[in-house]
Amino acid sequence: MASYKIALMGGDGTGPEVLREAVKVVRAAADRFGITLDTTDYDFGGDRFLRTGEILPDSAIEEFRGFDAIFLGAIGHPDVKPGILEKGILLKTRFELDQYINLRPVKLYPNVETPLKDKGPEDIDFVVVRENSAGLYTGFGGIQRKGTPYEVAVQSMVYSRNEVDRCLKYAFQVARKRNKTNTLTLCGKTNVLTYVYDLWERAFHEMGEKEFPDIKREYAHVDATTMWMVKNPEWFDVIVTGNMFGDIITDLGAMVQGGMGIAAGGNINPEGVSMFEPIGGSAPKYTGKNCINPLACIFAGQMLLDHLGEEEAAACVEKACVAFLESGVLPGMSAKDIKEAGMSTTKIGDAIAELTAKV
Ligand code: IPM
Ligand code: MN
Repeated sequence: MASYKIALMGGDGTGPEVLREAVKVVRAAADRFGITLDTTDYDFGGDRFLRTGEILPDSAIEEFRGFDAIFLGAIGHPDVKPGILEKGILLKTRFELDQYINLRPVKLYPNVETPLKDKGPEDIDFVVVRENSAGLYTGFGGIQRKGTPYEVAVQSMVYSRNEVDRCLKYAFQVARKRNKTNTLTLCGKTNVLTYVYDLWERAFHEMGEKEFPDIKREYAHVDATTMWMVKNPEWFDVIVTGNMFGDIITDLGAMVQGGMGIAAGGNINPEGVSMFEPIGGSAPKYTGKNCINPLACIFAGQMLLDHLGEEEAAACVEKACVAFLESGVLPGMSAKDIKEAGMSTTKIGDAIAELTAKV
C-alpha cells in the first residue's frame, strides 16, 4: 500500500481554508485507492512572522526535504510589506528545493465562464511550463547611488544552458505524455532579447531534433503569445518559457480558464520535492468568511496526486470536480457568486469529497 508524507502549509488569509477543503478531497481519493497520507502542518506565514519575526527558517527547508510533496494554501499578508513573505517563503522554497519547473495547466471546465467570446472547453486546454528557478528572478544585479538623482538599478535575466535544457526537457516530456497535438511552443522574444532567447531557441531546436523528433516545434514571441491566448487558445498544446514571461502569461491563462478561483500550479523538482498551490493568492479580505472558492486548491491537489504517480486517484479528483461543476450549483467562481448561491468553501469541499468517493 502506497504511503506518502505531505507537508501542509496553509499560509496566509484564506490559504488555510482552501487547503483544508483540498486535503479533504485528496484524502477521499486516497482512501478510495488505498493510499495512506501522513500529513504534517506548518504555520509559516504573515501571522507567525508578525508574532515571532520568523519567516521560513533553513531548518524548515531541511525538514521539507524529507517529504514526498508540499501542499501550500497561499502567501501574502496585508500587514506585512509586499515581497517579504513572497520572497521569504514562496521563492525561498522554490529556489532551495530547486523546483525548477512551474507547471500551470490552463483548462476550461464545463459550466465555468471564460471571458473569451465563442470559446468553450474544446478550445481551452493547454499547459504552460514556466522555468521557475532562474531568469529575472535570481536577483542578479543591484542599485548604486541609491536615493540620488544619479542612481542606477540593474536586474539581469540570467540563464545557463543547463537551466534552459532541463526546463526544455521537461516541457518536451509533458507534450509527449499529453499526446494531444504533440506540439511544443517556445514563447520568447528573440527579436529583442537576442542573447537570452537566442540561447533558448538554439537549445530548443537542438534538443527537439535529437531527442524529441515526434514533437512539433513552434515559436511565438511573448507579446504575440498573449494575443493568440485570447484570440486562438485552441492553437496551444504545451507552451514553454522563461520565468518572467511565464509569470505574466499564466495570470492571463488563469483568467482565460475562468479566474483565480480555479487556477492551480505545481512547483516541480522532477528529481526532488515538489510543491503544489492554487495560484490565486491569499485574498485577505475574505479570511474566515467561508466563501472563497477551494476549487483551485483542489485542482492543485489533483496535480499533487498525479505527480506522486497516483494517476487514478488524480483522475478521480478531476472527475469529481467536473461532476460538481456540471451539477450547476455554482453560478460563478468568485466569492460573491459562492455567497449568492448559498454555497460556501466547506460545502464545496464536502460535495467534491463525497463525489470523489463515488464517481
Ligand atoms: C506566482 C506569483 C509569484 C511569482 C510571486 C508571489 C512571487 O506571482 O506564483 O506566479 O512571481 O512567481
Ligand atoms: Mn504570478
